[in-house]
Order: sequence, then C-alpha cells, then structure tokens
Amino acid sequence: MIAAGDSKNWTNPSRLLLLQIESLAGASPLIVAPPDDGFAAYLAAKAGPGALVHNFDFRSQRFHRKKFLETGLDPSRVGFGEWHDPQAPLHDSVIVFLPKGRDLIEYVLRMAAQSIVAGGFVYLVGGNNEGIRSARGVFSEIVGDVVWSEAARHSVVYAARATSSPQRVSPQDFLEDSEFELEGSRISIRTLPGVFSRGRLDDGTKFLLEKLPALTGRILDFGCGCGIIGAAIKRRSPESVVELLDSSALAVRSAELTFETNAIVDAKIFASDGFSEVEGQFDAIISNPPFHRGVGTDYQVVEQMIRSAKNYLNPGGNLFIVANRFLKYKQVLDANFQSSEVLAENNAYRVYQAN
Ligand SMILES: C[S@@+](CC[C@H](N)C(=O)[O-])C[C@H]1O[C@@H](n2cnc3c(N)ncnc32)[C@H](O)[C@@H]1O
Repeated sequence: MIAAGDSKNWTNPSRLLLLQIESLAGASPLIVAPPDDGFAAYLAAKAGPGALVHNFDFRSQRFHRKKFLETGLDPSRVGFGEWHDPQAPLHDSVIVFLPKGRDLIEYVLRMAAQSIVAGGFVYLVGGNNEGIRSARGVFSEIVGDVVWSEAARHSVVYAARATSSPQRVSPQDFLEDSEFELEGSRISIRTLPGVFSRGRLDDGTKFLLEKLPALTGRILDFGCGCGIIGAAIKRRSPESVVELLDSSALAVRSAELTFETNAIVDAKIFASDGFSEVEGQFDAIISNPPFHRGVGTDYQVVEQMIRSAKNYLNPGGNLFIVANRFLKYKQVLDANFQSSEVLAENNAYRVYQAN
C-alpha cells in the first residue's frame, strides 16, 4: 500500500488533490490522464473496486500498471486508448488532469461527461503554469457551472455536477482532415486532438520525406503521429512492409484512420513506449523524433531511441531522422552507429542517416 507520505515527490496537482482525498474517494472514480506519480494508485486503493484509470499515453499506462501491482491492486484497472469504453459502467465521479491544448481539453471533458452518472462530480485539476485558470470557461461550458474550487500548491481544482444529458460524441466527431501533395500524389491525413502538427504537414517531416531515398524491405515509422511518414513510404514503395508506432493512443488511432482513408492496407500500427513493443529487425527506421516534453527541451526519448535503434536494424540497415539544426545528434549517432552523415540540410533542419 502506498503511503501518502510518499507524496512529497508527487506533482503539485496531485498534492492538491491529496488534501481533498476523503471527498474524492467515492466508490468508483475514473481518473483520467493522471501524471506519472503515486496519486492514482493511492486514490484507487482508498476508493472502491470500481476506481479506474484511463491513460492516453502508453508509457503512463505501463507506469500505472506497475504502481497498481505494487499497491496490491489489479493492474487491468488501468486502461489505455483514445476513448474510455462507452459500454463500461458509469462512474460516480471523474477526475481529469488538465491536458495540453484547447481542442484536447474539450475532447477529454466530453469523454468525461459521458462516463459519469447524472449528479456526480467532474473535477478538473491542473497547475497554474499549465493554464488551469483559463480552462475554467471550457470546463463550465462542457460540464456545467463550477460549484466548488480549491487552490493550493500552485494548482487549482474545479468541480461541476454532471448533467443527465451530456452531448453524445465519439472520437470521430473530433477528427480534422487535411490533404497534402507528395511527389505528385495526394495523401489525406486524419488527426485527433493532441496529435503532433494537427491539420498541417510539419516542415521537418516534409523535408525528411523529400530527402529520403527509395526504401524497400521492412520499415519502421517511429513516433508516427498521424501516420504521414509511414503512409508516404507505403505509397512510394507499395511492396515495403511498414510498421508504425507511437506512445499516444490518439496518434495510433489517427494513423489507423489515415491508412484507412488512403486505402493503404496491411500495415501494423501499434502503441509502444519507445521500442518496448517492437519485435524483430528492420531494414530502415524513420523518425521525426519527439524531443520536447513539458516546458524544457528534453532529449531523453530521442537519445534512448538512437541508442536502441541499432538493436532493431538488420545488418546494413539505416536510421533516418530529421531534427532542428540546433539539436546536435551527430555525436550520439556516431557513438552508436558504424557511420553517420548529414544527408541533407536547409536553414532549419538536418536529415541524418546512420548505418
Ligand atoms: C515530432 S512527432 C512526429 C509525428 C509524425 N511522425 C510526423 O512527422 O508528423 C513525434 C511523435 O513521437 C511520439 N512519442 C513521444 N514519446 C514517445 C515514446 N516514448 N515512444 C513512442 N513514441 C513517442 C509522439 O506522440 C509524437 O507523435
């Protein structure tokens, strides 16, 4: 059992909720997108067996499953996906940790409003530096008037009572569709809220696709987002065997829908934290890698990716990545590969190839 004493390492929003723990620990709270700390397992242990966690991030699901096990709770109570199961029993409360971006906040709150019994409390909690105060308006609009709020630990929690008739929506209602011209053929892209470069082709991704040589064999799109890189490769070389992964459930679902809308079949698209779910070796790994997490620049995921990539390449296989010019990857590529070069560069980006 996790002791609340461990809470000094929790995030500020979790520590604020800890102050309210008795009122939060109903019979069956749904805890949505909690930070990777001990709060969700602590609350679930205090509440009834109906307490569940919903994650949009595969890394967070792994983290919380481990925490639940350590706490003696059933890890299958930690879910993952682009939407909470609409067939699941309704919860008596929902606690939403503030996601990033207005479209994603709206998406998550609509999901929350449909997952709760009428009259139950929906809570929205977040840090001042995450923009919790400016989320109050959209919270009231979607869930209802704020009937209670508390501020402490540089964070705020709002509560509103769920209505009996929330607007019935599904992820499909939030899709943004766009089309790009690539090498004379059009590719359609479908993206859910919170997915990288929603509704537009990222300049770095575009540069990478323009400079990639023709590829065949088994190819991995690492951190696929809406699936644009994998889709472009499959369009270019239909005989290639393409796999796509992302840690975000919203990205994985978007990539599936992108493939479907372009009638591209037989690709494997799956959730993975880095290479955690990857099987076998590839002839090429392609990525516009994630380097930014939270407020500062964080190279950890991409450095880990470069270090691990060599174990997932066939002899003679290549890693291709695109990065902002200011990010220095040559050193880490050289330390892990036989050779590496800057395949192309412009005034903003570099495409690296490592063998
Ligand atoms: C810069 S975006 C690129 C998206 C897409 N390939 C494109 O070019 O538009 C990086 C992607 O990596 C994903 N990502 C972040 N951390 C990850 C991890 N640990 N494992 C797998 N994917 C991750 C993000 O969700 C995001 O979709």
